[in-house]
Amino acid sequence: YGYPVQDLARHCTFEEVAYLLANGELPSRAQLSRFRRAERALREIDRDHVGVIARFSRAAHPMDTLRTAVSYLGTREVAWGGEKPATDKRRAMALLAKIPTVMATDYRFRNAKRRIRPRDDLSFSENFCYMCFGRKPAPEVARALDTSLILYAEHGFNASTFAARVVASTLSDIYSAVTAAIGALKGPLHGGANEAGMHMLGEIGTPARAEAWIRGAIERKRLIMGFGHRVYRTGDSRVPTMNKCLEDLSAWKGDDRWLRITQTLARVVIAEKGIHPNLDFPSGPAYDLMGFDIDLFTPIFVMSRITGWSAHYLEQIADNRLIRPLSAYTGPPQRKVRPLARR
Ligand code: ACO
Repeated sequence: YGYPVQDLARHCTFEEVAYLLANGELPSRAQLSRFRRAERALREIDRDHVGVIARFSRAAHPMDTLRTAVSYLGTREVAWGGEKPATDKRRAMALLAKIPTVMATDYRFRNAKRRIRPRDDLSFSENFCYMCFGRKPAPEVARALDTSLILYAEHGFNASTFAARVVASTLSDIYSAVTAAIGALKGPLHGGANEAGMHMLGEIGTPARAEAWIRGAIERKRLIMGFGHRVYRTGDSRVPTMNKCLEDLSAWKGDDRWLRITQTLARVVIAEKGIHPNLDFPSGPAYDLMGFDIDLFTPIFVMSRITGWSAHYLEQIADNRLIRPLSAYTGPPQRKVRPLARR
């Protein structure tokens, strides 16, 4: 909608950006307050939903439990697709409000802890931290999480958004589109890179090892997670804002280990390969400093990108044409089927 994402990150809360993506304009005070009330009122999930989450295997990855729990939401009402835009807008708001609750509930159960119910007096980011950890986060954490959610919220025709639009284009429902998008986001070449990048930082371990490790990885032609982008060739414009968050969190925690390792990796990979870090590279260590387990990093991406996916779903449905790419066939020319007895 015309705003540089860096400006949105500087001046807005995630709720304002969620409103922008749902409505095309930034909200006035009154509009924001109505939007917040509506989102907060929808945060709770019902007992059956909690029961479904409780039955997931503790070993399941949170992206898989989230994909299933979102799909389950689509069974709570008859959703054929092609309903009125107001119905889909209501569903989009419910997805935005309930996804953090689903994630936090699953996180608590996986760690053999009691679930913490959502609060309606906390911001989106504060409430998510509260439901995970049982206390309101420090302002530094809440602000950094909010900034990362703003940066992740929407990003054109990336793979998961395209997956959502393909499903929407069949006139299927929003839950099906979002479920497909979550599946696409999970892959390490897309959103899964924030987890894969963090595992890589863990493998490196200390700043002293970083330079030798990355030079060895380049020599072995290893894929370096959190680097490269299909569209950005000279750097991801979201990275400087997220780097600043990582710097602030490192100073706040008095722990600059990840910051120093990421700085070394970025310097060497840019110099040696001309490949720049993408948003997933600084966001992973920032989430680690905020206290989140690594397997929650990509679900946090979902918690934000649901705003972009929903906006794309509504845009596709409003002026739809079935998306059906052609492929270039390279198999054998047309031939006759010989019955089994003669093969
Ligand atoms: N590490 C090592 N080499 C790389 C990397 C990387 N991260 N990214 C690209 N390259 C190499 C490619 O292997 C290729 O080398 P070659 O010419 O010798 O074959 C060259 O750079 C050019 O790359 P492309 O093929 O043009 O890159 P492509 O557009 O296909 O891939 C992608 C983009 C998938 C993001 C890739 O850079 C990658 O796998 N990165 C790591 C995963 C990652 O961080 N994904 C997150 C994406 S952003 C997001 O979802 C928020």
